[in-house]
Amino acid sequence: MSKSPKTRSTKPNRTVSIIGTGSYVPERILTNAELEKMVETSDEWITSRTGIRERRIAAEGEHTSHMAAKAAQNAMEQAGVTAEEIDLIIIGTITPDTFTPATACHVQRILGAKNAACFDISAACSGFLYAVEIAQQFIANHTYNTVLVIGADKLSSIIDWQDRNTCVLFGDGAGAAVLRYRARSHGVITTFMASDGNYGDILHVPGGGCAMPTTPENAGQKLNTLKMNGRETFKQAVLSMGAAATAALAQAGLTADDLTCIIPHQANMRIIESLADRLKIPIEKFHVNLDRYGNTSAAAVAIALDEANREGRFKVGDYILLVVFGGGLTYASSVIQW
Ligand code: UT7
Repeated sequence: MSKSPKTRSTKPNRTVSIIGTGSYVPERILTNAELEKMVETSDEWITSRTGIRERRIAAEGEHTSHMAAKAAQNAMEQAGVTAEEIDLIIIGTITPDTFTPATACHVQRILGAKNAACFDISAACSGFLYAVEIAQQFIANHTYNTVLVIGADKLSSIIDWQDRNTCVLFGDGAGAAVLRYRARSHGVITTFMASDGNYGDILHVPGGGCAMPTTPENAGQKLNTLKMNGRETFKQAVLSMGAAATAALAQAGLTADDLTCIIPHQANMRIIESLADRLKIPIEKFHVNLDRYGNTSAAAVAIALDEANREGRFKVGDYILLVVFGGGLTYASSVIQW
């Protein structure tokens, strides 16, 4: 299927700004050297093929909601927003604490955000940007004023730790942003989303859902762990992120030269380099932290956004581009004037 998705014709009719960002990663560091003792791999292979040196792994009893709530608290603190002011909590995750209640409801309880409506969305690594778009729609349409958007995943809970094709790539973490209407202010210029269900099986968790419930007979087959066709995922990642970035820039009426910083999904340094080549943007403009955290799924772009924000990589008025892809396939891109 070609990657020339439709662009949305409308720009938001009400300015929606990110007024605070936050992130959280667990304390425990899992290095490439430790992985060498777990599967047949090497630090040299992992570093040269992916750029990843270490990742964070959640502690025993530390769930997606705990990480999400910590990231949210950081974002709310920066935004100067209290829990009671939050109208809506949306979490992008594929590793919910429980099938039901939604992880967003668990986070609501932890934060004491008693006035919020809460739900999760499932868009794999694209979950945070999908949630930003949903939040923007609610705010632009005057339904809500203050929305807490979180990308959080505990990928370590769905990894087959004997599969070297996947276990070296992923880590745990959470990132959050508070979005709010601000009159005559800079904000989210456009968000572009797309999906291609034809490629669903290149990156998927086949079991554990109603199509293939876990039973005593299939329990040993690890069907509830992540399976990936690495080469095809790599190819689709470059194509889809390139298409999403181009579409978002076109919608915003901007070119790559207008951008101060690009925050890409943090899956593989070679994917980011290929994207930079494709978009003809110097690699120095990309914010990269995958060497320290690996691929944290929905959290990745949100953690990177928070890090870049706190490092002062962009200032008020600068244009930044966020671009992601993930299982589904799903992909998305957002242009924000900070
Ligand atoms: O959020 C989206 C998540 N996923 C991704 O973004 C992944 C996208 N894909 C990739 O990043 C890359 O395809 C990988 C890093 C997964 C693999 O890199 P590659 O250059 O595409 O390697 P490959 O799949 O072509 O495999 C090369 C060799 C294979 O051995 P043979 O068949 O050539 O003998 C693999 O079995 O490397 C082997 N291999 C490993 N060797 C050492 C695969 N994983 C490992 C490993 N350590 N961890």
